[in-house]
Amino acid sequence: MANVTVIGAQWGDEGKGKIVDWLASRADAVVRFQGGHNAGHTLVVGDTTYKLSLLPSGIVTGTLSIIGNGVVLDPWHLKSEIEKLEGQGVTINPDNFAIADNCPLILPIHRDLDGLRETAAGSGKIGTTGRGIGPAYEDKVGRRAIRVCDLAHLDSLEPQLDRLCAHHDALRAGFDQPPVDRERLLDDLRGIADFVLQFAQPVWKRLKKVRKAGAKILFEGAQGVLLDIDHGTYPFVTSSNTVSGTAASGSGLGPSATGYVLGIVKAYTTRVGSGPFPTELEDEIGQRLGERGHEFGTVTGRQRRVGWFDAVIVRQSCAISGVTGIALTKIDVLDGLDEVKICTGYRLRNNVYDYFPSHAADQAAVEPIYETMEGWKESTAGARSFADLPANAVKYVQRIQELIETPVALVSTSPERDDTILMRDPFMD
Ligand code: GDP
Ligand code: IMO
Ligand code: MG
Repeated sequence: MANVTVIGAQWGDEGKGKIVDWLASRADAVVRFQGGHNAGHTLVVGDTTYKLSLLPSGIVTGTLSIIGNGVVLDPWHLKSEIEKLEGQGVTINPDNFAIADNCPLILPIHRDLDGLRETAAGSGKIGTTGRGIGPAYEDKVGRRAIRVCDLAHLDSLEPQLDRLCAHHDALRAGFDQPPVDRERLLDDLRGIADFVLQFAQPVWKRLKKVRKAGAKILFEGAQGVLLDIDHGTYPFVTSSNTVSGTAASGSGLGPSATGYVLGIVKAYTTRVGSGPFPTELEDEIGQRLGERGHEFGTVTGRQRRVGWFDAVIVRQSCAISGVTGIALTKIDVLDGLDEVKICTGYRLRNNVYDYFPSHAADQAAVEPIYETMEGWKESTAGARSFADLPANAVKYVQRIQELIETPVALVSTSPERDDTILMRDPFMD
């Protein structure tokens, strides 16, 4: 298979950025296809740490990097992220970076609305990243978005602004906010237009050309399957489809383009924001894993909730997203534990479930059924070969593989790019 699609198989932050960066040297193009700058992907290369929210992780290796139409793009954030990376010595120019000209924009009014709604929602709040992702996707589907290509036609934006403001002014009034300041919005857009337009193009055409030349494309998912708008823990989800199929529709290629689907899976579970989390640990083991794993959000700095590995949700994610193989990350964080637990099923009202039921109340009420395994005292940190893993860590990996009914292709043993064990090369499979 020529192409690889990387997706998160839990609630995000599985280590997608590290794996995409590692695979990027084998790819000819890296494409983001959904989400926006709600993502936070951390890459560690030697002494340098790169934190990317919007740019594809391939940009750090200089691989052609593309933002597809399925992404929602905050143009001001784009500029600041590019400047930050350039400050770290990364080269970004129209030769190695392109943005789909049909990509919808995230505007300041989207961020406002995200915050106003979260504040008003009280105990029902989702715990969003506050970056305007949901409102921007709503405007896309509501056919009132301003898109990248509109930046070249700002003098004829009036009908679109009428449509956009008719919607937002009514909502803003409900929150006691003044109507949209149209002049200011237009001025802001005029100020950023040229910067964005230098990278804008019909990327489906560029990708078609790249593909025809036999190049390998690496699709970089953001968030995770449990945050998918259809398949996730609704309503505690993000506003895009995070599953692998979106790689095609979110970049302008047909469904066969997705190729090998590599699910990124953390060796335990984390979640940031509200919503059900059956294996959550609110004891000292959870605290220890959170500290060892540096489980703080890249985007908001919030402490991530931590729990045991949940084989039920990962098996479900792999099935829903057609995962070919997984990369198991952060196994080193489990080093030194006397025992490790894996959730193999749920109990709910005297029934046993081998899947995560759809209703939010059931998801919150399920009791995990655990299998306990012996831990390992030896260190796995930095291991680069499967033979270097202690016997009990090998048993843990093999048990996970069995329970999720999906093979392990890679194991990651530290944040560092090269501390990665390759068992099957996804580009060769
Ligand atoms: P992403 O959103 O899926 O790209 O993941 P994040 O970057 O938000 O969070 C993953 C965190 O774990 C980052 O700080 C990575 O540097 C780090 N990380 C990735 N793989 C490993 C690993 O195998 N071991 C350890 N200890 N840390 C890792
Ligand atoms: P990466 O790509 C973890 C979560 C938020 C919130 C919910 C909705 O780094 O894995 P949104 O701002 O998208 O409307 O928030 O989704 N969330 C993430 N959690 N990793 C992410 O991205 C996330 N992106 C959004 O915390 O619960
Ligand atoms: Mg992240």
